[in-house]
Amino acid sequence: MRILFATSNHHKVMEANEVGKNFGVEFSQLMERYPEIRDEDVSRVAEAGAKFVFEKIQKPVVVEDTGLFIEALNGFPGSYSAFVFKKIGNQGILQLLKEKENRNARFISAVGYCDSDGVRIFQGLVEGSIAREAKGGAGFGYDPIFIPEGQSETFAQDPEMKNGISHRRRAFEKFCRWVIGRK
Ligand code: IMP
Repeated sequence: MRILFATSNHHKVMEANEVGKNFGVEFSQLMERYPEIRDEDVSRVAEAGAKFVFEKIQKPVVVEDTGLFIEALNGFPGSYSAFVFKKIGNQGILQLLKEKENRNARFISAVGYCDSDGVRIFQGLVEGSIAREAKGGAGFGYDPIFIPEGQSETFAQDPEMKNGISHRRRAFEKFCRWVIGRK
């Protein structure tokens, strides 16, 4: 089964396909832009994006929105993670946490699927912490500063480990299970 995935981020498509291959689901990248609404909930951002793209192309489509929620910063940058990454990057986040003992953070991914029956949302979450310094060259975004719970390396140091346990894997697993179940 082939499903369109509207995103400009090819890393996301590769990660989704790592999951999809276990279910016979293949994600094809669709370079279709959509407005990211301002909302603290990544699910509502994904929902609005999926509806927007479906209405435009009139084909079933997936979009995905991720946020990094840092406990000591009251959940910042959360659903504003893309904007914050562009403005201050990983070094900016490390700077904000310089004096903080509490490094707890989580990634939340929301996959939104829209077809003529409406939108459905599938969430995945991974707990972890923010490293003291950026490490690793793989992945993208905040991967070099995120160490998942129970691991000693960042997502960027160990992409296989990331693929096995990430927020995105967990969200796409839920989606794949659902979509193959309704065939
Ligand atoms: P969005 O989901 O594309 O809006 O991404 C929000 C921000 O988080 C962007 O700056 C991404 O680079 C970053 N991001 C999204 N997913 C991941 C991930 O799996 N690891 C690290 N950073 C991510």
